[in-house]
Amino acid sequence: MLLQIPDVLTPEETAECRRRLEAATWIDGNATAGHQSRLAKRNMQLAEDDPAAVEMGGLIASALAAHPLFVSAALPFKIFPPLFNKYEGGQNFGTHVDNAIRRSRVTGDQIRTDLSATLFFSDPDEYDGGELVVEDTYGVQRVKLRKGSMILYPASSLHHVTPVTRGARIASFFWIQSMVRDDGCRTLLFDMDTAIQRLAAADPLDASVVQLTGVYHNLLRRWAEV
Ligand code: NI
Repeated sequence: MLLQIPDVLTPEETAECRRRLEAATWIDGNATAGHQSRLAKRNMQLAEDDPAAVEMGGLIASALAAHPLFVSAALPFKIFPPLFNKYEGGQNFGTHVDNAIRRSRVTGDQIRTDLSATLFFSDPDEYDGGELVVEDTYGVQRVKLRKGSMILYPASSLHHVTPVTRGARIASFFWIQSMVRDDGCRTLLFDMDTAIQRLAAADPLDASVVQLTGVYHNLLRRWAEV
C-alpha cells in the first residue's frame, strides 16, 4: 500500500523546521548509504547526530504517534529517528531497495524496515524534478507532495528520486518497523479499520460495529509481533 498522510506537521511547525533546515550543515548523503545504494546516491544529508536533526526528528515522531491515519495504516512498533536530505543541482538517487535492517547511530537501536516514509519540506513548485518514483504492485507511482505531508510505502519497493534540475528539494526520510510485518495483512487491517470507523460514525451502538471491532482486534492479535 502506498498512502499519502496529509498535514503530519502544522504549517507553523513545518515553517520552523524549514528555517532550521536552511541554516543547517549539509554533508555527503553517502554517510548513510548501503553497499549497493552508495553507487546510486547523489544528495546531501544532515549528520544523524546533528542536534537539529535529532530535535526535529523527535517532533516528527511525536506528531506521527498522535496521527490517527498514520497509526491505522502503519501500526507502528518502532520509528527510526528521522533523517533529512536535500537534492539540488541535478542530484538524484537511482533505483534501489532500502536496507532491510538499520541501526540508529544516535540511539543504537536496530529496526526492521517494513515501511519507508518521506515527509516533504519543499512545496512542489519550488523545484523541478525530484519526484519519488515507487514501483508499487499496482504499477509505477510518481510522488511529489506539498510541504508538511508525507508518503508511506512498503520498504520492499524499488524506488528512485529523479534529478532536481531547478531549486532544492528538502525532505525527511525514515523507516517504520510495523507490528504487522506483512504488507498484505497490514493493508487488510487498515481497510477494515477504515470501514469500522465509517460505520461507527453513523451508529456507534450498532452490534455489527462491536462484532467487527472484535474481529479487527483478533486478527491483530493473530498477526502482531510486539
Ligand atoms: Ni530509498
